[in-house]
Amino acid sequence: MTQKIIILDFGSQTTQLIGRRVRELNTYSEILPYNKFPENDPSVIGVILSGSPFSVYDAKAFKTELEPIIKKYPVLGICYGAQFIAYTHGGAVEPANSREYGRANLTEIEASDPLMKDIMPGEQVWMSHGDTITSLPENFKVIASTEQVRIAAYRMIDEKVWGVQFHPEVYHSECGMTILKNFVVDICGSLQDWSAASFIETTVKELKEKLGNDKVVLGLSGGVDSSVAAVLLNKAIGKNLTCIFVDHGMLRKDEFKKVLKDYEGLGLNVIGVDASEKFFSELEGVTEPEKKRKIIGKGFIDVFDEEAHKIEDVKWLGQGTIYPDCIESLSITGTTIKSHHNVGGLPEKMKLKLCEPLRLLFKDEVRAVGRQLGMPEHLISRHPFPGPGLAVRILGDITPEKVRILQEADDIFIQGLRDWGLYDEVWQAGVILLNVLSVGVMGDERTYERAVALRAVTSTDAMTADWARLPYDFLAEVSNKIINKVRGVNRVTYDISSKPPATIEWE
Ligand code: XMP
Repeated sequence: MTQKIIILDFGSQTTQLIGRRVRELNTYSEILPYNKFPENDPSVIGVILSGSPFSVYDAKAFKTELEPIIKKYPVLGICYGAQFIAYTHGGAVEPANSREYGRANLTEIEASDPLMKDIMPGEQVWMSHGDTITSLPENFKVIASTEQVRIAAYRMIDEKVWGVQFHPEVYHSECGMTILKNFVVDICGSLQDWSAASFIETTVKELKEKLGNDKVVLGLSGGVDSSVAAVLLNKAIGKNLTCIFVDHGMLRKDEFKKVLKDYEGLGLNVIGVDASEKFFSELEGVTEPEKKRKIIGKGFIDVFDEEAHKIEDVKWLGQGTIYPDCIESLSITGTTIKSHHNVGGLPEKMKLKLCEPLRLLFKDEVRAVGRQLGMPEHLISRHPFPGPGLAVRILGDITPEKVRILQEADDIFIQGLRDWGLYDEVWQAGVILLNVLSVGVMGDERTYERAVALRAVTSTDAMTADWARLPYDFLAEVSNKIINKVRGVNRVTYDISSKPPATIEWE
């Protein structure tokens, strides 16, 4: 049985990060809404309570019954989590004189406390709180302070319960990983055996049990998530998995052919469907971005449905949904909205059960699993690419000729990034075909042709992004190559907008 740490989410922005850090300790973690603690799960070895946007005395504050948890498992409260434990046991929490935000250094550490093992006075932690614990209940003791905050960390004397006012999960807390390790490994007793290899072994076993001899159909996009999901399912059920890879005509240059070959090389049972004509004719004359998306989304479902119906007796739809997608849909504060998979709507239409073998993994864990499964690096480390493809990178209406121009320009940019060793330094890159014509001169000829914009961003999750500071010499080389080689383009610009307020894609 895989041991797990439960993280109860009280709505903090760093809850996901706590989950990540625990996984970095080779320990499986699961993030659950603050009031959804699993009653009888023998694999739980410890519980972490996250921070929150609320104060404990707010009428809207998230509250849950702690006693059954405290009696059964080691507990670590972080920020609001720590305040909540102290407050519900009779301690006092008050607004701090000024909101404390930023670096602080630990002083007066109780070195004999297991949570503080190997933590030295002076070590840096990250504070971000408006309230502070001003007095502890009787059976609690202070185990660390900072200059500003006397109760920076505490322990409940007769129980395995700790609280820290700072955020050990953020990078600026330099001793944060040691504190989390002390909790997860020493206090909770994690065996640290969670890894890509162990994930594959358990998941393949579970998939075999769950799916038996059932047939599964899965839509491949060429992206890392659906590809890894397919290889994992293939390992579990082999030919009972049929993959469908639809070419809507708006993929990158030669991508359909190349990726299809990769999939076949991986032993996948894959059907490649060239539906580009259908999509081009449905998109003719359409300029409105959301309308383009809807046409492509619906067209994709139609093609997929038609192909899937050719397979007899399919019971399941496989999908490459990953953990951040699930956490967002669980999100208790409900502030984030992101476009999800392009096959949304399919399970209902086809009356299929959903099978999402990666739903518990973060993106880099998906990549680690892919590598462990022996998938080629270029499939694993490729940039994200939007489901509607180049359709959302061609401003205005779409024609096969515009797609050709964009594919050529995009190919030069992406190949250039690879040649200059810059590809892995950016999160995502591509070219946008603008609906702007401008005057130029080529030889002795006046030209009146299209402008393109290069877009390259750095990011960790696509929710925010910054434009990549690519070298001028590189940009100069790409610009020259595009203008010289791509017929129809006489001007290249570089997009220097960050997200927010801009988005990564232009449409
Ligand atoms: P934006 O443009 O919103 O994009 O900053 C954030 C990330 O999402 C991708 N994206 C999409 N992916 N279908 C998708 O599958 C879509 O309609 C879509 N729109 C944007 C985008 O490429 C970036 O990685």
